[in-house]
Amino acid sequence: MPFRVRDLVNDEATLISRRAWSDPAVYELEKRGIFGRAWLFLAHESQIRNPGDYVQAYMCETPIIVARGADLGIHASVNSCTHRGLPVCRTDHGNTNGFVCPYHAWSYDVTGRLRGIPQERQVKKRPDKRKLGLKKVPRVETWNGMIFGSFAEGIEPLEDYLGDMRFYLGAFFDRFPEGVEFVGAPQRWVIDANWKLPMENQLGDVNHGPFLHASIVPPEANQEIVDHGFSVVPGAGHGATFRLMPEDTPIEQVAWGFEAMPSLLGGPEVHEYLREIHARAAERVGPLRSRIKGLTFGVYPNLSFLWSNTAFKVSHPRGPGKVEYWSWSVVPADAPESIKKVLRGNHTSFFGPGGILEQEDSEAWMQQFRGANIDFADDRPFFYGLGEGEEGPHPDMPGLVSSTANEFYARQFFQRWRAALEAVEEA
Ligand code: FES
Ligand SMILES: [Fe+2]
Repeated sequence: MPFRVRDLVNDEATLISRRAWSDPAVYELEKRGIFGRAWLFLAHESQIRNPGDYVQAYMCETPIIVARGADLGIHASVNSCTHRGLPVCRTDHGNTNGFVCPYHAWSYDVTGRLRGIPQERQVKKRPDKRKLGLKKVPRVETWNGMIFGSFAEGIEPLEDYLGDMRFYLGAFFDRFPEGVEFVGAPQRWVIDANWKLPMENQLGDVNHGPFLHASIVPPEANQEIVDHGFSVVPGAGHGATFRLMPEDTPIEQVAWGFEAMPSLLGGPEVHEYLREIHARAAERVGPLRSRIKGLTFGVYPNLSFLWSNTAFKVSHPRGPGKVEYWSWSVVPADAPESIKKVLRGNHTSFFGPGGILEQEDSEAWMQQFRGANIDFADDRPFFYGLGEGEEGPHPDMPGLVSSTANEFYARQFFQRWRAALEAVEEA
């Protein structure tokens, strides 16, 4: 049965149709209206420091090569040969001076320029190689080392797109003198869920913590969220949840990293390092942001960041009912190797493919997709109305602010989502 996008999400976005999650026609609109038009996270500059360094990435289902050129510029090209479409880059990351397609050996440099066609010596009319390079991602920009690409040539600058989300991301990034680095290749796995639910979860759903994660999240941690927690929407579709700890909080209870660091994993050396970082946090990010103890962050449409375990994640859609997760461990660039190793372990044990929190979340997300597909329940959309209208401005922090139980982060996401799909819906 055909649908209108406005029937999937009501104006207040307090009711979301099950079809918004499960209908293949909705997914096709998402590709064009969202993934074809937004800024999408590709990689971090620390992964491609030297000329010839490259990593693979995706923009929705489109494979991308992100490479550092000889000019030190960053180039993003679609990983599909102009001859018959095979992927020309065959490994996840590395360093090279070019890519050779395995089918007929057309060769490209790391910027995507076509260098050679072996067969052209045997034909009379030589093709114009300047027109036959890999398709370029037309817009590539970076913020704080994070590389984004967009297929929309006329999109606003990345900094404007991130807007006030930079204030909250910077509360983490800017506290390290040398910035952060992404460690190695991402961990990748596929689950039978819709890409929007992991995203919604990390825009602001800390409400499931005391229940779904009851086995590992202690009651004191939940109480801290009730007492000091904020949910912020710096711009529709972005989101940040965190605790703003009182000024006299002992350093161990506010410093980044401590709660992710069960004492069996982090020894005295790690504790000392975290203490030192925090002692200088106010200088680096200001007194207010040094009291931010982050939980989950999300950047529209599909990038998220879990502060306590320093996991950066992208939800790559693979159809309405599949998502390929890419998850990177993020560490302070100037931390000693031994500390980076502990932080990596923390990332993986909580939010790797077998991570304890990841396992619990994944199961819930897969069950939600099944719930979005059942018959005879289309007249019962999902309820997104908790805390409606209870958000408002804050004197010291940008965006709309509320308690963490308010689902306005999800309503704002779906209002932006609806507008994006309506823009490409046939009249
Ligand atoms: S498909 Fe790549 S060279 Fe023919
Ligand atoms: Fe969770």
